[in-house]
Amino acid sequence: MKKMWSGRFELESSELLEEFNASIEFDKNLYLEDITGSKAHAKMLGEQGIITKSEALQIINGLEAVLGEIQSGKFEFKIADEDIHMSVEKRLSEIIGKELGGKLHTARSRNDQVALDFRLYVLSKNREINSKIYELISTLSNLANSHKDTLMPGFTHLQHAQPVSLAYHLMAYAFMFKRDFERFLSSFERNNLSPLGSAALAGTPHNIDRDFVARELGFSGVTQNAMDSVSDRDFALEILFNISVLMTHASRLCEELILWSSQEFGFVTISDTYSTGSSIMPQKKNPDVAELIRGKTGRVNGNLVALLTTMKGLPLAYNKDMQEDKEGVFDSVKTALTSVVILNEMIKTAKFNSKNMLNATKKGHLSATDLADYLVREKNIPFRQAHFITGKAVAKAENLGVDLSELGAKELKEVDENLDDNAVKALDLNASKEARVSRGGTANKAVEAQINEINNWLKSQI
Ligand code: ARG
Repeated sequence: MKKMWSGRFELESSELLEEFNASIEFDKNLYLEDITGSKAHAKMLGEQGIITKSEALQIINGLEAVLGEIQSGKFEFKIADEDIHMSVEKRLSEIIGKELGGKLHTARSRNDQVALDFRLYVLSKNREINSKIYELISTLSNLANSHKDTLMPGFTHLQHAQPVSLAYHLMAYAFMFKRDFERFLSSFERNNLSPLGSAALAGTPHNIDRDFVARELGFSGVTQNAMDSVSDRDFALEILFNISVLMTHASRLCEELILWSSQEFGFVTISDTYSTGSSIMPQKKNPDVAELIRGKTGRVNGNLVALLTTMKGLPLAYNKDMQEDKEGVFDSVKTALTSVVILNEMIKTAKFNSKNMLNATKKGHLSATDLADYLVREKNIPFRQAHFITGKAVAKAENLGVDLSELGAKELKEVDENLDDNAVKALDLNASKEARVSRGGTANKAVEAQINEINNWLKSQI
């Protein structure tokens, strides 16, 4: 089949080349962006008198007809047409005639066309992902609001450390996902510029109006250097990176849900709707959703590294290597969207077992730091020494086979005379949590401030 670019060729392409070279199998995903960009371009050509207004109108109508065919499933994507850009243009020419169809590509190259289409796609997916992150943050904040008094162990090194509230633990994730939202938003703002009109690499002698096209397409402005514009894939790298960090956060939350739903923890029961069974062990209920999100994080990291590696050695401007930019992005975007949505649903429907959490706080001497702090505050004992005395009290509890919080006034006094009757109060687990009123701490007052902060921020984003 004759190619659009075949003027200088004597021989036809080999079938092997056609298969290898074509991107239509995956860039057909960009049909809407391609047609939207072409309509804006045609309109601009008409406005500028590069083609007549009536020609522009016929081209636009033709493009809409092509869009209709694609959306109704009538359109036939062919490997021989190579990519979405040439497939659309070829069909346009069949509908409105070669003479007119051939005018659309004036002052344009596939290099700026693909940069435009892909950018439009990435920007629209950026918005979509952020709307899902927004919902997830709302869920976490709502849930936190009802768990301020749910006491649980806070961990370091996965060992019991200090008592915290479940609300506090959940809010940690709310702030992580807020940073993700802001990261996507700042990428959106930075990349919201139209590259169209860059042509192949050096601009065009035609009297085009790039700002007009940018406005038509909803961009906030135009890119400034044509060579950069057709070589730049930072917008794609950024969405891949943003997705990797987002998925890393989701993966850590999932890892905790997996641990917490184990018999050893029993902190959470994931709903049947988001759990799976075993083909052999009838009793099993597995947290596959959380495991899959954790697993898919590896895959999106792979997509990021793949594109970084593709880009790192490319001379300016466009190189065909850059055709490799799309599949990883499509994959990561789909993975991020489905993961965030299902994670949100899984959390909404999960049951947090406050009783088991409370029981867990009675192991591991969680209020030891509070006892040391008591000695510092009330007895003016240097912290290092207070730490040592408290260590002795912990050893005593261990010997008696109880938790530090279960020691009575008599036993404490036996450890050190400074551990007087009031020291017992310092061991109370809830008091330990409530004592941490410092900004960002786990006391209810401090957590309420965090929830307010997130809720006000959520409102400001609408
Ligand atoms: N299919 C190509 C891609 O995805 C479109 C741009 C091709 N440009 C070119 N000069 N061959 O990158």
